Amino acid sequence: MQAALDLKEEILALKKERNAIILAHNYQTGDIQDIADYVGDSLGLAYKAKQAEQDVIAFCGVHFMAETAKIVNPDKTVILPDLDAGCSLEESCPADELEAFLDQHADKNYYVIAYINCSGAVKALCDVICTSGNAVSIVNQAPSDRPILFVPDANLGAWVMEQTGRKMDLWNGSCYVHVEFTRDSINKIKAEYPDALVVAHPECTQAVRLLADEVCSTEKMIAWCQNAPSDNLIVVTESGMLHRLRKECPGKNLIAGPTDKCACADCRFMKLNTMEKLRDCLANLSPQVQMDEATRARAEAPLLRMLEQSK
Ligand code: 13P
Ligand code: SF4
Repeated sequence: MQAALDLKEEILALKKERNAIILAHNYQTGDIQDIADYVGDSLGLAYKAKQAEQDVIAFCGVHFMAETAKIVNPDKTVILPDLDAGCSLEESCPADELEAFLDQHADKNYYVIAYINCSGAVKALCDVICTSGNAVSIVNQAPSDRPILFVPDANLGAWVMEQTGRKMDLWNGSCYVHVEFTRDSINKIKAEYPDALVVAHPECTQAVRLLADEVCSTEKMIAWCQNAPSDNLIVVTESGMLHRLRKECPGKNLIAGPTDKCACADCRFMKLNTMEKLRDCLANLSPQVQMDEATRARAEAPLLRMLEQSK
């Protein structure tokens, strides 16, 4: 207990000394969320990173999120507690493969929309970026006279097609955490709590999305759960989400399942960050997110277009 308090004090002192802001994604562990200046989804974090005036952005999330912070606010030092905090969606779309695909299909003149869960090099090849929180709106604003290629998440892309009625060609990527949830595992929990409502992230498969009462980004889950017309709620996403939901939705029974594997599961990348690593990266100003300037500048344009179109 005392050690945890000391670690917290150390982080707060280093944050002041370094003139840093701590940004954390909704999937970080509770202790990291509680010490952060801002906790949110990918979209909220991108806005906060762009507005940050401190010298250092300590980004507690995965690499593509910290890289986004560097792209939109390049003069800041961006540090990440663990540089190995990757993402299976990012891995599923290497920039050289996307470039080769676009070269092969140059005749199509694709309008390329990238889900933010991809590398800076992939962003640099795209027309606009989206997050799960604004994907429907971004697709609705795409030019109607060009075919859309949506990368890298096929499940999010399929959900956006359902919502917008717009046909898109989908890259075959997926989130290894969200595709693990099954209809059967959720139905098992529903059998125990017949009045429970289900909220799921759009990275889930169609089979799971079909039995959800709401499909939305992590940030939108907060308001939806606060206002849901049932006290029993099954939350189908990464387990870190339960921390904020339990704090901000008093009176709701947020059900992770008989085991945490049924409806919520850990993302091994998100959980690489720890309080100890956060302290160390503030102390050493390392590891830092670095990018070559040409790629950063090319990736900035589609990100700024997204921020503009999300207003
Ligand atoms: P959100 O943008 O909804 O926070 O989702 C990010 C993510 O990585 C989901 O797996
Ligand atoms: Fe990537 Fe999935 Fe982890 Fe989100 S939960 S960071 S999409 S691997």
